[in-house]
Amino acid sequence: MSATILDGKKIGEEIRLAVAAEVQGLLSSGYRAPKLVAVLVGENPASEVYVRSKTKTAAALGVDSATLRLPSTISTADLLEEIRQLDADEGVDGILVQLPLPSGIDTDRVLEEVDVAKDVDGFHPVNVGRLALGQPCLTPCTPAGIIEILVRSGVQIAGARACVIGRSRTVGRPVAALLLNRHATVTVCHSKTHEISSVTREADILVAAMGRAGFVKGEMIRAGATVIDVGINEVRDGRELERFYEGEELERKRGVIEQTGRTLVGDVEWRSALCVAGKITPVPGGVGPLTIAMLMRNVVDAYRRRCRV
Ligand SMILES: NC(=O)c1ccc[n+]([C@@H]2O[C@H](COP(=O)([O-])OP(=O)(O)OC[C@H]3O[C@@H](n4cnc5c(N)ncnc54)[C@H](OP(=O)(O)O)[C@@H]3O)[C@@H](O)[C@H]2O)c1
Repeated sequence: MSATILDGKKIGEEIRLAVAAEVQGLLSSGYRAPKLVAVLVGENPASEVYVRSKTKTAAALGVDSATLRLPSTISTADLLEEIRQLDADEGVDGILVQLPLPSGIDTDRVLEEVDVAKDVDGFHPVNVGRLALGQPCLTPCTPAGIIEILVRSGVQIAGARACVIGRSRTVGRPVAALLLNRHATVTVCHSKTHEISSVTREADILVAAMGRAGFVKGEMIRAGATVIDVGINEVRDGRELERFYEGEELERKRGVIEQTGRTLVGDVEWRSALCVAGKITPVPGGVGPLTIAMLMRNVVDAYRRRCRV
């Protein structure tokens, strides 16, 4: 038996189209476009790529965007002042501070300075608290995307046993809260969990978000479970791919390494998981495409709530 592959690209595209239509509707009713500002501190190449990709998507959907570039030498106090100016700017609806910030900057303090109503990453402690209480709030984008995949793929969440591996601020904790808010029975595993397989094997919905290539093997999955693979791990050695793929897929992935020097795999060992799971997200093309789509959704939601439209 082979699992149904959940197409994150398609779901992400559906959400982007809906956001673009909503922005178009606002513009034709005489409102301004919602605006996102990305705060990029220092010159981290991965952060540059992420921010470019976010502003490019914004432009494609009719969302206004700008990038505030600041030097890696900026002090926490000066960065807080920059954030305060964005908070006070009536024309800005969403603020995202691209993480990680350079060492020496107090990340928690910076995230707390973002206006709760403009916190489109959902990292402000007030939004985190509201999420934990099941109250309306701006929700972290990757976890919100995971829920979209489950709901749009017809996966029953209420009453299901869910296991989340990972307890980070960005993925593990918020996705556990979202699943609980939708009435799943949720267990969170982490690096200190004993006998993790005995927990994962109980799960109807298994979310792997730890950043360990192929950690979740078929034998750790309950037959027929839905598996959401959040991990993004680089592989540079073609031989490592053999436990993930076979046949044409293996050759295709090896070709990618030959051409680009690397390829991506998830936290789930694809080959063994595919025989056991009922539904599964691939890497890439699963959760990844949802993250920016949900960011755009959050920008429009933040705009609507702030401007009451
Ligand atoms: N698709 C996307 O859009 C997207 C978005 C965000 C992240 N990601 C990817 O998702 C993965 C997780 O990201 P993150 O930011 O949540 O990572 P993170 O902050 O490094 O957190 C990793 C979590 O996994 C747990 N963990 C690590 N090794 C473990 C093990 N052997 N057994 C059980 N738990 C273990 C850690 O436990 P402790 O707390 O005990 O240390 C921690 O809670 C990464 O590969 C990242 O690149 C993808």
